[in-house]
Amino acid sequence: MSNLSLGYIRVRTPNLDAWDTFGAEVLGFMPTGGPDEASRYFRWDDHPYRLHLEPGDEPELAAIGWEAADDLALDALVDTLEASGINVTRGTDEEAAARLVTGFASFTDPAGAPVEIFCGPVFDHERVITPLVSGFVTGEMGFGHVVTSVENLQDAVDFYRGHLGFHLRNTWDIGIMEMAFLSPNPRHHSLAFGAGMPGSDRLRHFMVEAATIDDVGYAQDRCIDAGVPVIMGLGRHTNDHMLSFYCKSPDGFLVEFGWGGLQVDDPADLPMHQITKPSIWGHRPILTNRDAG
Ligand SMILES: [Fe+2]
Repeated sequence: MSNLSLGYIRVRTPNLDAWDTFGAEVLGFMPTGGPDEASRYFRWDDHPYRLHLEPGDEPELAAIGWEAADDLALDALVDTLEASGINVTRGTDEEAAARLVTGFASFTDPAGAPVEIFCGPVFDHERVITPLVSGFVTGEMGFGHVVTSVENLQDAVDFYRGHLGFHLRNTWDIGIMEMAFLSPNPRHHSLAFGAGMPGSDRLRHFMVEAATIDDVGYAQDRCIDAGVPVIMGLGRHTNDHMLSFYCKSPDGFLVEFGWGGLQVDDPADLPMHQITKPSIWGHRPILTNRDAG
């Protein structure tokens, strides 16, 4: 196992002001400073940030950052990728400083997603304060998961399994749409791909896992109170057993806010399987009084 974990996501957005409210007051992340004064940074654990929003004309995924254990692990992954003919670019010291990491490399995955592998996040040792959420489940499992659209599911799956040590946990095939769920660490899935999903946006959603079930309920209440669309209300997934809801971010992609996700300590504990529906119960749209009125 490569022991990568989901380290950060960077998004370009024309909606920075809306993110100030959505990130801090709805999701409950801690706003923090960073190297780029025009950007917004949110953190919810000891990492300097987990979400970096930079100004842009259109919402766009700028990078998915995977954390390697150290520089040796990063070097080994770069060697593996280059030996397979992948064009990898080593980050300069200046570029690393702009990311608050001590080293990184970047490449484009077969689906066209911008990917960075980094090591050595630079901690500021400020106390993490998230007054609206009791805590988030991160650590060796990274900050959560990310789901992207791909054209060729098999190519994407082969790439992450073959070069980056991801395990394929499960698939889902409903004919017009296919998904695959993978992880390089005990989190059931850190990355999922969907082929045939409606719409053209690459970033579909990212998930954060709160420490308690009440954190999820309170967060869903905050969405409803703030008029943030809850696209899928509280429900429990069939694959990772996550109890979660999905709300719409200012940029249109969704944020899944969950609790109680399955951890797979040994991949042999959970043989690859196919699911036939995404949720055991729930995950239905929530109509507010405003919608109904
Ligand atoms: Fe999800």
